[in-house]
Amino acid sequence: MTITALIVAAGRGTRAGGALPKQWQPLGDARVIDHTIAAFGRHPKIDQIAVVLHPDDLDLAQTFDVAGLIVAVGGADRATSVRNGLAMLPEAGQVLIHDAARPCVPAQVIDDVLAALSDTRAAAPGLAVTDALWRGAEGHVTGPQDRSGLFAAQTPQGFDLAVIKQAHATYQGPAADDVEVARAFGIPVRITAGHPDNIKITTATDFARAARILENRMDIRTGNGFDVHAFGPGDHVMLCGVKIPHDHGLVGHSDADVGLHTVTDAIYGALAMGDIGQHFPPSDPQWKGAESHVFLRHAVGLAREEGFDLTHVDCTLICEHPKVGPHATKMREAVAGILEIDVSRVSVKATTSERLGFTGRGEGIACMATATLVKS
Ligand code: CTP
Ligand code: MG
Repeated sequence: MTITALIVAAGRGTRAGGALPKQWQPLGDARVIDHTIAAFGRHPKIDQIAVVLHPDDLDLAQTFDVAGLIVAVGGADRATSVRNGLAMLPEAGQVLIHDAARPCVPAQVIDDVLAALSDTRAAAPGLAVTDALWRGAEGHVTGPQDRSGLFAAQTPQGFDLAVIKQAHATYQGPAADDVEVARAFGIPVRITAGHPDNIKITTATDFARAARILENRMDIRTGNGFDVHAFGPGDHVMLCGVKIPHDHGLVGHSDADVGLHTVTDAIYGALAMGDIGQHFPPSDPQWKGAESHVFLRHAVGLAREEGFDLTHVDCTLICEHPKVGPHATKMREAVAGILEIDVSRVSVKATTSERLGFTGRGEGIACMATATLVKS
């Protein structure tokens, strides 16, 4: 079953002010809407993403780097924008309708709505009101308001697609959200756990709050790797994915690419998920002569599965010969290619050990590496 995130972003953000509508304003290192889309993009259960944009903003659809992104044109009120978005989606499946103005939505909130949808047709996150409530008029308290049974409504609001399409097709007039539309159609809506971080950017002060929430959530890991391979007979060495002619080869079960092995271990280290020998035992004949990019692809794949971006790799080869300098650019490109990151995020450098120790005596090559992973 296809699960679509439908992100409504066609409002003008009049209460937030600023030169651009709030969803296009900067938030940390990206725009508000980029964070919102990314929250769904990285969620393993979301199959596709649709955005509803204001007619004036349609050109901005090109600024998203999202495979298979569906774009719809918004309407004069939120309900119309949702309806236009729903019209672009298939008849069957599930949809999570979400405000672009809620960029900090935690994965757990999405999970809980989806879990509820496994046995009900409509579910949405609500946050029970905990503050004491007053009624007031003309700047004065006029009386207490019982808070029991009151919830602050959040998004994403999740629905069986066919049901919410029908509900919207018959609904007349404005609606605060899609729960109101579903209920008007007679569909019960289950309340799932909302989250205090899932704020809707509404006024100018909310940008700073949202930035703080995202900053605090960032999980930055560094891992180190160290590896050594001895020289043996041969006419070339593999170093960081590049074949370099040499009067010796490197001894190893695989292609003995000490550079790639070290970077691989640095990534496993940052994930606290063991080491290369654990994932690819040297005793296993299937890795005999293996090209080491296989190991590195596995490590970076694991990192991405865990929700991390690999933001930087620094690798230092330690040997007297071969000279690494002339090949360093090619090595950076090769490593960046395997990792599918920009070459500006990959450093390959080298040092001798001043003829001291085993590397100094030319008995082998050592390598150390650091990998940085970021989850936001
Ligand atoms: N929205 C929409 N189409 C509209 C109105 C609102 O897609 N015609 C979207 C907004 O872009 C936002 C969400 O619905 O992501 C929630 O609306 P709100 O917070 O009210 O945003 P705005 O309408 O943009 O802000 P304001 O009411 O301050 O103008
Ligand atoms: Mg509005």
